[in-house]
Order: sequence, then C-alpha cells, then structure tokens
Amino acid sequence: MKHPDLLLFHGQLLSPPAAAVALGPDVSLSSIPDGAIVGHRGKIVDLGPTAEVLERTTPGPNTRMIDAQGRVVLPGWVDPHTHMLYADDRLDEMELRHQGKGYLEILAAGGGILKSMRDFRAAADGVLAESLLERLKEAVQSGTVALEVKSGYGLSLEEEMRALRVIDRIAKATGVPITPTLMAAHALPPEVDRQAYLKECDLAATQAAKAGLAKAADVFVEEGVFTPEEGRRLLTHARQAGLTMRLHADELAPSGGAELAAELGAASADHLTAATAAGLLQMAEAAVSAVVLPGTSFFLHRQPLDAERVRRAGLIAALATDCNPGSSPFRSMAMMVALAFHQNRFTVAEAITMATINAAHVLGEAATLGSLTVGKRCSLLVLSSHDVRDLVYRPGAQMTWAVVESGRVLIWQGRPTEEVEAWTIS
Ligand code: NIG
Ligand code: FE
Repeated sequence: MKHPDLLLFHGQLLSPPAAAVALGPDVSLSSIPDGAIVGHRGKIVDLGPTAEVLERTTPGPNTRMIDAQGRVVLPGWVDPHTHMLYADDRLDEMELRHQGKGYLEILAAGGGILKSMRDFRAAADGVLAESLLERLKEAVQSGTVALEVKSGYGLSLEEEMRALRVIDRIAKATGVPITPTLMAAHALPPEVDRQAYLKECDLAATQAAKAGLAKAADVFVEEGVFTPEEGRRLLTHARQAGLTMRLHADELAPSGGAELAAELGAASADHLTAATAAGLLQMAEAAVSAVVLPGTSFFLHRQPLDAERVRRAGLIAALATDCNPGSSPFRSMAMMVALAFHQNRFTVAEAITMATINAAHVLGEAATLGSLTVGKRCSLLVLSSHDVRDLVYRPGAQMTWAVVESGRVLIWQGRPTEEVEAWTIS
C-alpha cells in the first residue's frame, strides 16, 4: 500500500475490546484521546496516536482525509435483532394498547403480527424493498454499519422465501452487511393446521439454508405463540439444516425460553424481560448471548431487564432495536444506547460494548466488526460531540457527524452522502 484510501485524524478514539465480553465490573472502553485511523480496501490497517500514525503514513491525492477535530470516534453500531422488513405501520394497535389491551390479546384476535402478515402478503416486492431501504437509511443515519433482518411476516413457505429474497436484494443494493434470519415461526398463521405449519417452517429452514438466503433461524417461544417443545423441535431441525439458532424468549411471561436456549446452545436468546434468574445463569454457563431490547420495553410500557440481573449472571449481552411495526418502531441504535442507560441502568461503557462488539458476536462477526482493531472492517461512527456521555444525555438528538462503512463514507457532516442517495432497488 503506497497511499491509503482513508485517513481519519485528531479523533477521540473509544473502543471496546476486540472480542466479546461478559458484563461485569471490568467493562470499559480503551481510549486514545488524539487518535488516527488508517483505512485501506475497506479495512482498518493502522491506528494509534495521531502524531505517530501521521509519521508512518503517506496520504496520496486520492486519500480521503477526515479531520475529526476532537470528536468522539466509535466503531459503528451493529444491530443484531430487527424485523425491519414489513409493509405497514400498526398505529391503531398502539392506541388500543394505550387503552389497556394486551399485546398477546391483540395477536389472538387476529391483529398484531397477523395484521402485519396480511399487509406483507398484499405488498409487491418493490414496495417491500423500498420501505426496507428507507428504514435502513435511517438506521445508518444513527451510526449503524451492520445489522440483522428477520423474515417473519410472510408466514408461509412461499412468502417467507419471498421475504428473504427482498432482504438479499437490499443487502446487494446497498453493500451494507445484513445478516438474514428466517423467522417463519413468528406466529401461527390463521386457518393453518399447527402441525402442518411446523412442517412448513422446517421446509423453509431447509430451503433457506440451501439457497444461502438465511444464516440463522429464530422462533418466538412465548405462551400463546410457540411452546418450548415446538421451539426445540424447530431449532434442532434448523441447526441440522446449517442455520444458527436464535430465540425470542421470556418476553411477556417466563416460559422456559432462556433454559431452552441454554440447552440447545443457541447463539442468543432475546428479550428476556421475564426470564428467571436460573435461566439467565444457565445461558451464561452455556455461553449463550442475551440480546436486550430496551425499545420494546419502552414502547410496550413494560419493566425493562435490569442491568444488575445481567451482570450478576455474567452474560455476554448485546443491544438491538428490535425494529418492527408493533412493539418497537425504532431504527436508531443511538436511541437504544440512551434507553439502555436510563431504563435498564447499564453504564455508558456497557451500553456501547453491547451495541458494538457484543452485537457483532451475536451475529458471528466479532472477527470483522465491533471494535477499532487493525484487520477489522473500517466501519466507524464519528459523533458530533466531544463527550461520549452526550449519547445518553440527549436521547433522540442528532448525534451523528460521520458514518464510515467498510471505508465508504455514508454520512458526512450529519447528512447522507451522494452514494447513499443513489441507492436504488432496481
Ligand atoms: O420481537 N415478539 C415477537 N416479535 C416482535 C414483535 C413483532 C411484531 O409485533 O410485529 C418482537 O417484539
Ligand atoms: Fe423481535
């Protein structure tokens, strides 16, 4: 390399360690108060104090120079749990809940996920792709540089495969790393025999894995949705098909989801607001990550998962938006960091660790993402602030100055670049 592609200097570099960490008293971010990062061919090739890096680097005429002027520089956010592919909102349901109706009550009456199923089935591929793209842009604006997107509103073999194809299309159109997850087992579609649908989910797992359209499979294990026995059966099949196992577990009531995740050795169990202490401990012992979803507890007005419970269990915990039309319409990981601090009582360092390296770990991408480390993707978030605590001090404020994804500048001075504006679904 004669001249690097990118040189960011005078940044306040803050990074979690290069590998995932269990939460506990030692969680902290390493800091280089006046630091520089050299990017080449999409990767970080050097970093250190600005003076030292400048001495050993020769920028050329095509090197993108970024003077961060003392701003905070973090690894970009990784969002490891989203249902960002959906057709329409659920504003009416939000009001019903405000009047006292329960989330599962609305689902049982044919609303909730089933309303989203009807919307999804009625939407053309292009409409779905367009709306996913818009949400993805908003996520990038908050600093997201990689994310997971689940299927789960098609609820038939055909429609779930269609969902995965739309996700693939957007991954290719944007180049943003998207980990696709099959979530055919999101709800039981109406007028379909239960056993027949479980078989259809198995078939979807086999086909999705074979086509390379899904990396993981997820099951909503919850009273009134799928039982732990059904979850065990579906996920065992998915694993045999070559998919990673994920679970929506113990969101509304303790239903054995955390324990099942531990037994199966799943990559993660997510939600966990109603998980038992024993279930959380078993997860930690089995090295199953916990994905905390503060947007969902906020939006459903439920008790958030307390940080102390996560620390006590010694869990590798990650943060995600859970972006979906019913329980968490958030797209911003910056907002999740703020909610994790205020509502769950995680520290700033913990919340950032959860939204970066631990989130990358959940997606099996800790070797390529989630920290400022030579050899990883050059995927960075430069805050508009000089104090990282501003992230939680001003929830909802526009805090992004620049976003770099694998060396590509996607947000510059708070605005999407031409490259982002040119993303089309063709
Ligand atoms: O993670 N809990 C199940 N799935 C989603 C909600 C999906 C929906 O309501 O559309 C969740 O909260
Ligand atoms: Fe979810």
